Amino acid sequence: MTTNHSQPGSPAHDDPTLLTTPFGSHASAGEVIDGVDLTGRRAVVTGGASGIGAETVRALAAAGAEVTVATRRPESAEPLVREFAATGGAGLVRTEALDLSDLTSVAAFTRAWRGPLDILVANAGIMALPTRTLTAGGWEAQLATNYLGHFALATGLHPALRDAGSARIVVVSSGAHQEVPFDFEDPHFERRPYDPWVAYGQSKTADVLFAAGVRRWAADGITANALNPGYILTRLQRHLDDDTMRAFGVMDDAGNLEPLPYYKTPEQGAATSVLLAASPLLKGVTGRYFEDNQEARTVRGDDDRPGGVGAHALDPEAANRLWEYGTEALGGA
Ligand SMILES: NC(=O)c1ccc[n+]([C@@H]2O[C@H](COP(=O)([O-])OP(=O)(O)OC[C@H]3O[C@@H](n4cnc5c(N)ncnc54)[C@H](OP(=O)(O)O)[C@@H]3O)[C@@H](O)[C@H]2O)c1
Repeated sequence: MTTNHSQPGSPAHDDPTLLTTPFGSHASAGEVIDGVDLTGRRAVVTGGASGIGAETVRALAAAGAEVTVATRRPESAEPLVREFAATGGAGLVRTEALDLSDLTSVAAFTRAWRGPLDILVANAGIMALPTRTLTAGGWEAQLATNYLGHFALATGLHPALRDAGSARIVVVSSGAHQEVPFDFEDPHFERRPYDPWVAYGQSKTADVLFAAGVRRWAADGITANALNPGYILTRLQRHLDDDTMRAFGVMDDAGNLEPLPYYKTPEQGAATSVLLAASPLLKGVTGRYFEDNQEARTVRGDDDRPGGVGAHALDPEAANRLWEYGTEALGGA
């Protein structure tokens, strides 16, 4: 299987039940929260030292938030830390070590966290590892990093999110989830052949189901939504070979990378994350999936228009089942 690399479509505005915003598909992260004051708010952005995570950090900190970049290489966040130390404004960036593929590291991060947490952006991710790779815990690496590590992080930070009163969780998924339901029988490819895109897609379906499952924390004032950031050239593509990059149309014969016209810059790619994290338009909204700064239509049956969210990824029963699966995988509770 290869990922659907076709141009994303415009969300269906003909469905009045879908939440719309005034922001176009290529609005920047700064634009979608222009005028929003996050002074006194605290945010964690996983994988916030590069790509769309770094632009998410920049936009939240520029709006006045104290942002913790949770990264497995804290030194990689130093330029962002220095950038905001130099501005002398309300926004502040700090960095903490976090390796999502290692539960010990996740536990150390959550144990060390003090005080309320207003915004958790589950942004870190890896894509299409060419061969089946297992973490020390025996989990398929993409599922472990993209979903299970974030699930452990969110459940570990639940008291801090609850204490914030109206915390928001933002889960960065991908359009790659669309054709891949979560395989509860064999999530780690022990009995079925490994496919890099199926493993990535499954982890991204798990991300959407995880956000949907957060409904159980509604009484704590916690909301969660998932999103597809669009297509952005970042380090995420580092596991793809040149032939795949050429097939996607983003590499010329000489090996130079050139984004296609509908690709976004990292700052535009971060917009939907930032919108969900901090815009007043999203107040109280939970369990939904967005792309291009709009809520996406649910794709069912023979709908082959690009974009949208697979019905399997928002299914409440699957979300409950995945929450139980995740809880068991983390050792019960
Ligand atoms: N770019 C796109 O076109 C696109 C499309 C759809 C979805 N997305 C999603 O967007 C998110 C951000 O990706 P990006 O495009 O900005 O790529 P990126 O620059 O590679 O960012 C991914 C981040 O995740 C971090 N990370 C990876 N494994 C980790 C681990 N075990 N523990 C902690 N952090 C880890 C990386 O840190 P290191 O620097 O240490 O590796 C990196 O900072 C991902 O979830 C991705 O799936 C991207």
